[in-house]
Amino acid sequence: MKRRKFVAGNWKMNKDIAETTELLNAVLGMPTVATGEAEICVCPPFPSLLRAEHVLAGSRILLGAQDMSEHDGGAFTGEVSARMLTAAGCTHVILGHSERRQYHGETDGLINRKVVRALAAGLVPIVCVGESLTEREKDETTARITAQVEGVLNNLAGSQVAGLIIAYEPVWAIGTGKTATPGQANDVHALVRGLLSARFDEKTANSTRIIYGGSVNEKNAAELFARPDIDGGLIGGASLKAGSFSSICQAAG
Ligand code: PGA
Repeated sequence: MKRRKFVAGNWKMNKDIAETTELLNAVLGMPTVATGEAEICVCPPFPSLLRAEHVLAGSRILLGAQDMSEHDGGAFTGEVSARMLTAAGCTHVILGHSERRQYHGETDGLINRKVVRALAAGLVPIVCVGESLTEREKDETTARITAQVEGVLNNLAGSQVAGLIIAYEPVWAIGTGKTATPGQANDVHALVRGLLSARFDEKTANSTRIIYGGSVNEKNAAELFARPDIDGGLIGGASLKAGSFSSICQAAG
Protein backbone atom coordinates (compact mmCIF):
# COMPACT_ATOMS: atom_id res chain seq x y z
CA MET A 1 0.00 0.00 0.00
CA LYS A 2 1.27 3.45 -0.89
CA ARG A 3 1.16 5.83 2.03
CA ARG A 4 1.31 9.55 1.35
CA LYS A 5 4.46 11.05 2.87
CA PHE A 6 4.04 13.55 5.71
CA VAL A 7 6.51 16.22 6.79
CA ALA A 8 5.89 18.45 9.82
CA GLY A 9 7.98 21.31 11.16
CA ASN A 10 8.08 21.41 14.95
CA TRP A 11 9.11 24.98 15.69
CA LYS A 12 9.22 24.39 19.46
CA MET A 13 9.50 27.65 21.47
CA ASN A 14 10.73 29.70 18.54
CA LYS A 15 9.20 32.49 16.43
CA ASP A 16 6.87 35.20 17.70
CA ILE A 17 4.03 36.48 15.53
CA ALA A 18 6.14 38.75 13.31
CA GLU A 19 8.80 36.07 12.90
CA THR A 20 6.12 33.51 12.06
CA THR A 21 4.85 35.70 9.24
CA GLU A 22 8.37 36.17 7.95
CA LEU A 23 9.30 32.47 8.03
CA LEU A 24 6.03 31.29 6.48
CA ASN A 25 6.23 33.84 3.70
CA ALA A 26 9.77 32.66 2.99
CA VAL A 27 8.60 29.01 2.98
CA LEU A 28 5.68 29.85 0.67
CA GLY A 29 8.13 31.63 -1.64
CA MET A 30 10.11 28.43 -2.20
CA PRO A 31 9.15 26.95 -5.58
CA THR A 32 9.50 23.40 -4.24
CA VAL A 33 6.79 23.96 -1.64
CA ALA A 34 4.09 24.88 -4.14
CA THR A 35 4.13 21.46 -5.78
CA GLY A 36 4.60 17.92 -4.60
CA GLU A 37 2.64 14.98 -3.34
CA ALA A 38 3.63 14.95 0.31
CA GLU A 39 1.51 16.49 3.04
CA ILE A 40 3.30 19.39 4.68
CA CYS A 41 2.46 20.81 8.10
CA VAL A 42 3.98 23.49 10.33
CA CYS A 43 3.57 23.63 14.11
CA PRO A 44 4.30 27.13 15.47
CA PRO A 45 3.83 28.16 19.14
CA PHE A 46 0.23 28.86 20.30
CA PRO A 47 0.27 32.69 20.00
CA SER A 48 1.36 32.41 16.36
CA LEU A 49 -1.30 29.94 15.22
CA LEU A 50 -3.95 32.40 14.15
CA ARG A 51 -1.46 34.47 12.19
CA ALA A 52 -0.08 31.32 10.63
CA GLU A 53 -3.56 30.28 9.54
CA HIS A 54 -3.98 33.67 7.89
CA VAL A 55 -0.63 33.57 6.07
CA LEU A 56 -1.12 29.95 4.95
CA ALA A 57 -4.69 30.44 3.68
CA GLY A 58 -5.05 29.01 0.18
CA SER A 59 -1.69 27.22 0.33
CA ARG A 60 -1.11 23.46 0.62
CA ILE A 61 0.60 23.79 4.00
CA LEU A 62 -1.36 22.44 6.96
CA LEU A 63 -1.29 23.85 10.48
CA GLY A 64 -0.60 21.99 13.70
CA ALA A 65 -0.05 22.75 17.37
CA GLN A 66 2.71 21.37 19.58
CA ASP A 67 0.56 20.15 22.46
CA MET A 68 -2.94 20.43 23.94
CA SER A 69 -4.85 19.67 27.11
CA GLU A 70 -6.45 16.34 27.94
CA HIS A 71 -9.50 18.33 29.09
CA ASP A 72 -12.32 19.90 27.11
CA GLY A 73 -12.38 23.19 28.98
CA GLY A 74 -12.72 24.75 32.42
CA ALA A 75 -10.43 25.69 35.29
CA PHE A 76 -7.09 24.54 33.87
CA THR A 77 -4.84 27.59 33.96
CA GLY A 78 -2.38 27.76 31.11
CA GLU A 79 -3.97 24.97 29.10
CA VAL A 80 -5.33 25.00 25.54
CA SER A 81 -8.14 22.70 24.38
CA ALA A 82 -8.55 20.71 21.18
CA ARG A 83 -11.55 22.84 20.21
CA MET A 84 -9.50 26.02 20.58
CA LEU A 85 -6.94 24.54 18.21
CA THR A 86 -9.46 23.62 15.53
CA ALA A 87 -11.00 27.09 15.88
CA ALA A 88 -7.54 28.56 15.24
CA GLY A 89 -7.23 26.56 12.02
CA CYS A 90 -5.26 23.54 13.24
CA THR A 91 -5.76 20.17 11.63
CA HIS A 92 -2.90 18.43 13.48
CA VAL A 93 -1.39 18.34 16.96
CA ILE A 94 1.91 16.91 18.22
CA LEU A 95 1.34 14.83 21.35
CA GLY A 96 3.83 13.23 23.71
CA HIS A 97 6.95 14.89 22.34
CA SER A 98 9.99 13.73 24.34
CA GLU A 99 10.49 17.30 25.60
CA ARG A 100 6.97 17.19 27.04
CA ARG A 101 7.73 13.81 28.59
CA GLN A 102 11.07 15.00 29.96
CA TYR A 103 10.30 18.53 31.20
CA HIS A 104 6.60 18.20 32.00
CA GLY A 105 6.41 14.63 33.23
CA GLU A 106 4.00 13.49 30.53
CA THR A 107 3.24 9.77 30.75
CA ASP A 108 1.91 7.34 28.17
CA GLY A 109 -1.43 7.39 30.05
CA LEU A 110 -1.77 11.16 29.80
CA ILE A 111 -0.69 11.14 26.16
CA ASN A 112 -3.29 8.45 25.46
CA ARG A 113 -6.02 10.62 26.97
CA LYS A 114 -4.87 13.55 24.83
CA VAL A 115 -4.91 11.35 21.72
CA VAL A 116 -8.50 10.33 22.43
CA ARG A 117 -9.49 13.96 22.94
CA ALA A 118 -7.72 15.12 19.78
CA LEU A 119 -9.38 12.44 17.64
CA ALA A 120 -12.79 13.32 19.06
CA ALA A 121 -12.22 16.94 18.02
CA GLY A 122 -11.21 15.91 14.50
CA LEU A 123 -7.52 16.68 14.92
CA VAL A 124 -4.87 14.35 13.55
CA PRO A 125 -2.52 13.49 16.41
CA ILE A 126 1.20 13.19 15.66
CA VAL A 127 2.09 10.90 18.54
CA CYS A 128 5.75 10.70 19.54
CA VAL A 129 7.64 7.70 20.86
CA GLY A 130 11.38 7.12 21.26
CA GLU A 131 14.05 5.56 23.41
CA SER A 132 16.79 7.34 25.35
CA LEU A 133 20.51 6.78 24.75
CA THR A 134 20.80 4.64 27.89
CA GLU A 135 17.91 2.49 26.76
CA ARG A 136 19.48 1.98 23.34
CA GLU A 137 22.85 1.14 24.87
CA LYS A 138 21.24 -1.36 27.23
CA ASP A 139 19.44 -2.97 24.31
CA GLU A 140 16.07 -1.89 25.66
CA THR A 141 14.85 -0.09 22.54
CA THR A 142 12.31 -2.75 21.56
CA ALA A 143 10.87 -2.98 25.08
CA ARG A 144 10.63 0.79 25.44
CA ILE A 145 9.02 1.40 22.05
CA THR A 146 6.60 -1.48 22.56
CA ALA A 147 5.49 -0.12 25.95
CA GLN A 148 5.08 3.40 24.57
CA VAL A 149 3.13 2.35 21.48
CA GLU A 150 0.82 0.14 23.54
CA GLY A 151 0.38 2.86 26.16
CA VAL A 152 -0.39 5.78 23.88
CA LEU A 153 -2.77 3.74 21.70
CA ASN A 154 -4.63 2.13 24.61
CA ASN A 155 -8.36 1.62 23.96
CA LEU A 156 -8.23 2.92 20.41
CA ALA A 157 -9.83 1.15 17.46
CA GLY A 158 -7.82 0.22 14.39
CA SER A 159 -9.80 2.70 12.31
CA GLN A 160 -8.74 5.50 14.67
CA VAL A 161 -5.10 4.44 14.64
CA ALA A 162 -5.03 4.34 10.84
CA GLY A 163 -5.86 8.06 10.84
CA LEU A 164 -3.11 9.19 13.18
CA ILE A 165 0.60 9.63 12.66
CA ILE A 166 3.26 8.03 14.84
CA ALA A 167 6.59 9.86 15.08
CA TYR A 168 9.59 7.76 16.05
CA GLU A 169 12.05 10.17 17.63
CA PRO A 170 15.03 8.59 19.39
CA VAL A 171 15.73 11.01 22.23
CA TRP A 172 19.49 10.82 21.60
CA ALA A 173 18.99 12.13 18.06
CA ILE A 174 16.86 15.19 18.90
CA GLY A 175 18.70 18.46 18.49
CA THR A 176 22.04 16.67 18.81
CA GLY A 177 23.03 16.51 15.16
CA LYS A 178 23.20 12.71 15.61
CA THR A 179 20.70 11.14 13.25
CA ALA A 180 19.69 7.52 13.49
CA THR A 181 21.02 5.76 10.38
CA PRO A 182 18.27 5.02 7.85
CA GLY A 183 18.70 1.35 8.76
CA GLN A 184 18.37 1.97 12.53
CA ALA A 185 15.30 4.14 12.00
CA ASN A 186 13.65 1.73 9.58
CA ASP A 187 14.19 -1.17 12.01
CA VAL A 188 12.18 0.66 14.70
CA HIS A 189 9.53 1.74 12.18
CA ALA A 190 9.16 -1.90 11.10
CA LEU A 191 8.88 -2.89 14.77
CA VAL A 192 6.08 -0.35 15.28
CA ARG A 193 4.31 -1.54 12.13
CA GLY A 194 4.56 -5.11 13.40
CA LEU A 195 3.04 -4.05 16.73
CA LEU A 196 0.13 -2.40 14.90
CA SER A 197 -0.40 -5.49 12.83
CA ALA A 198 -0.42 -7.77 15.90
CA ARG A 199 -2.64 -5.48 17.95
CA PHE A 200 -5.06 -4.46 15.17
CA ASP A 201 -4.65 -5.93 11.70
CA GLU A 202 -2.53 -5.77 8.57
CA LYS A 203 -4.69 -3.06 7.01
CA THR A 204 -4.24 -0.74 10.02
CA ALA A 205 -0.50 -1.42 10.06
CA ASN A 206 -0.22 -0.63 6.36
CA SER A 207 -2.31 2.54 6.55
CA THR A 208 -0.74 4.21 9.60
CA ARG A 209 2.00 6.64 8.77
CA ILE A 210 5.17 6.37 10.85
CA ILE A 211 7.51 9.33 10.47
CA TYR A 212 11.05 9.80 11.76
CA GLY A 213 12.34 12.73 13.81
CA GLY A 214 15.77 13.59 15.18
CA SER A 215 18.28 15.82 13.40
CA VAL A 216 16.70 15.42 9.97
CA ASN A 217 18.23 17.91 7.56
CA GLU A 218 18.38 18.58 3.83
CA LYS A 219 21.37 16.24 3.47
CA ASN A 220 19.99 13.12 5.17
CA ALA A 221 16.25 13.46 4.44
CA ALA A 222 16.13 11.75 1.04
CA GLU A 223 17.95 8.65 2.27
CA LEU A 224 15.71 8.35 5.33
CA PHE A 225 12.48 8.88 3.38
CA ALA A 226 13.53 6.27 0.81
CA ARG A 227 13.23 3.49 3.39
CA PRO A 228 10.05 1.46 3.02
CA ASP A 229 8.72 2.04 6.53
CA ILE A 230 9.68 5.72 6.89
CA ASP A 231 6.72 7.82 5.81
CA GLY A 232 8.20 11.27 6.30
CA GLY A 233 9.68 13.34 9.10
CA LEU A 234 9.14 15.53 12.14
CA ILE A 235 11.63 18.32 11.71
CA GLY A 236 12.87 20.54 14.53
CA GLY A 237 15.89 22.79 13.96
CA ALA A 238 15.87 22.51 10.17
CA SER A 239 12.22 23.63 9.98
CA LEU A 240 13.26 27.10 11.17
CA LYS A 241 15.11 27.79 7.91
CA ALA A 242 12.90 28.14 4.84
CA GLY A 243 15.54 26.74 2.48
CA SER A 244 16.26 23.65 4.59
CA PHE A 245 12.59 22.95 5.28
CA SER A 246 11.63 23.23 1.62
CA SER A 247 14.49 20.93 0.58
CA ILE A 248 13.31 18.36 3.14
CA CYS A 249 9.74 18.66 1.84
CA GLN A 250 11.05 18.16 -1.68
CA ALA A 251 12.89 15.04 -0.55
CA ALA A 252 9.52 13.67 0.59
CA GLY A 253 8.20 14.03 -2.97
P1 PGA B 1 15.46 18.20 15.64
O1 PGA B 1 14.11 18.02 16.49
O2 PGA B 1 15.11 18.02 14.19
O3 PGA B 1 15.96 19.56 15.95
O4 PGA B 1 16.40 17.12 16.11
C1 PGA B 1 13.13 17.09 16.12
C2 PGA B 1 11.99 17.13 17.12
O5 PGA B 1 12.26 17.31 18.31
O6 PGA B 1 10.80 17.00 16.75
